[in-house]
Amino acid sequence: LIRVQSIHVCLLVCSFRTFPCAAVEVKNEPILGFNEGSPERAELQKALDDLKGKTEEIPCVVGDEHVWTKDIRYQLSPFNHSHKLAKFCYADKDLLNKAILASVAARREWDLKPIQDRAQVLFKAADIISGPKRAEILAKTMIGQGKTVVQAEIDAAAELIDFFRFNAKHAVELESQQPLDSDGSTNTMLYRGLEGFVAAVAPFNFTAIGGNLAGTPALMGNVVLWKPSDTAMSASYAVYNVLRESGLPPNIIQFVPADGPVFGDTITSSEHLAGINFTGSVPTFKRLWKQVAQNLDIYKNFPRVGGECGGKNFHFVHKSADVRSVVTGTIRSAFEYGGQKCSACSRMYVPDSLWPQIKQGLLDIHKQLKVGDPVEDWSTFFSAVIDDKSFARIKKWLDHAKSSPKLNIIAGGHCDDKKGYFVEPTIIESTDPQEAIMAEEIFGPVLSVYVYPENNYKEVLNLIDNTSPYALTGAVFALDKNVVDEAAKALRNAAGNYYVNDKSTGSIVAQQPFGGARASGTNDKPGGPHYVLRWTSPQVVKATHVPLKEWKYPYMG
Ligand SMILES: *[C@@H]1O[C@H](CO)[C@@H](O)[C@H](O)[C@H]1NC(C)=O
Ligand SMILES: *[C@@H]1O[C@H](CO)[C@@H](O)[C@H](O)[C@H]1NC(C)=O
Ligand SMILES: *[C@@H]1O[C@H](CO)[C@@H](O)[C@H](O)[C@H]1NC(C)=O
Repeated sequence: LIRVQSIHVCLLVCSFRTFPCAAVEVKNEPILGFNEGSPERAELQKALDDLKGKTEEIPCVVGDEHVWTKDIRYQLSPFNHSHKLAKFCYADKDLLNKAILASVAARREWDLKPIQDRAQVLFKAADIISGPKRAEILAKTMIGQGKTVVQAEIDAAAELIDFFRFNAKHAVELESQQPLDSDGSTNTMLYRGLEGFVAAVAPFNFTAIGGNLAGTPALMGNVVLWKPSDTAMSASYAVYNVLRESGLPPNIIQFVPADGPVFGDTITSSEHLAGINFTGSVPTFKRLWKQVAQNLDIYKNFPRVGGECGGKNFHFVHKSADVRSVVTGTIRSAFEYGGQKCSACSRMYVPDSLWPQIKQGLLDIHKQLKVGDPVEDWSTFFSAVIDDKSFARIKKWLDHAKSSPKLNIIAGGHCDDKKGYFVEPTIIESTDPQEAIMAEEIFGPVLSVYVYPENNYKEVLNLIDNTSPYALTGAVFALDKNVVDEAAKALRNAAGNYYVNDKSTGSIVAQQPFGGARASGTNDKPGGPHYVLRWTSPQVVKATHVPLKEWKYPYMG
């Protein structure tokens, strides 16, 4: 209640442009515990039961129209692939072009609305997800994307709610950032949306990212074509419906599942393309960017291309490290959600003096990690990987590890896709720090370890910086203050999110705004205060109140 009131106070103050906006007070959404006997657990259990054996029908939505094309697809539950959770269809080129024109036509009116009105849509959506729709969206994320309760909660509830509330707050507060006035004239910065449409291409691994990719550009006055991930369809559709229920008008966000290349080809050949908000693989992102470059002559604007592509995140352990926190932090970072987070730790560097202890610690926990059905068994630590393609890719890495003389599997290594796409948590020791497994992204529950002579840590820092093309997250475990400082300098460009004595994952909106450079992406830090600026094209208005009477300058005599 206090929060809602403070938003209202601010809205009143903000409508007079000359008064700086009072700060909107927003807090991170509390994460619920789901302990036995809790009300949230009962609600979630009911939502999970409601989805059992069901197949939801999900159309494309353009404007208010529900459209079915002939190209039918299914979303399977990763841990029980005989369960078709959703039936949906791919938008074809014609439907995508129709969606583009309808959104471009709706843009002006939406962009002219006061930011406070658009922000209200996200504040309301956040409240609905926090309250009545929480259980449904969590259940769809668990069954559809194979998440455990806690992984669904930190994503589809907490992070999504935080993205909506904080970005809405940042958008409202942006209005108060105004240029200087001078004697006799007033200067105003108008934060317009981009002229044209934004294409949002979302990944499977975070329900929150889909909502944010589409929702934040819309908040800033843009119109959006949202291509949700095939393997996050059910939760994405639920989020889309919450946005509509919260007052988002038709045609502002078009919900258009589509084949990747068809979507890419269609949006990049429209003169109205104003921006791309992408999350996915490096090759796909490069393909889109090249298409934009090739078509540059047809666009009305220079499209803004931004995206996030992944990582090869490191845990660097110094001999002064606290062993227990290295072990627990690495288990969580490498294996939570089966390593399918771009921030997952997948390479670790350990001094030989600590390796026996750390190895034993990892193996002890490894024995207790349960991989299974997160709905039937709440003690499951992580579930199946997302789909058959992902399973096949990870299996290839496991086969590689089995056949390479430089690699030694010390735990796990098996996988089985009879019922679901299950891969064991796997720990591999590499005698070669440049082995491909230490450099390339795997995106599965696979951790590779290189053990170094403890006094060579300086070379190892250099090695970490140079082994992989990515630079997303990384962690340094050292209690020696000088080493912490030294590492921070050596690894300054190796990670966009850098952790000291903490695991490389688990960033929280507004606390650790997220993103990396190099091959990891354009580092836009969604969840930070600057992110909303990426989706605006400001106009500066100078209004002069004192008429200019003289054309000559005094020195001219
Ligand atoms: C898997 O899904 C099928 C089809 O919906 C269902 O019949 C079966 O009971 C499910 N298995 C489990 C273990 O939930
Ligand atoms: C689009 O959104 C994603 C995820 O929220 C973010 O990582 C990426 O940097 C964004 N791109 C731009 C241009 O803001
Ligand atoms: C989500 O997955 C995609 C691959 O589909 C990856 O590129 C991206 O970096 C991941 N994002 C996060 C936040 O885990």
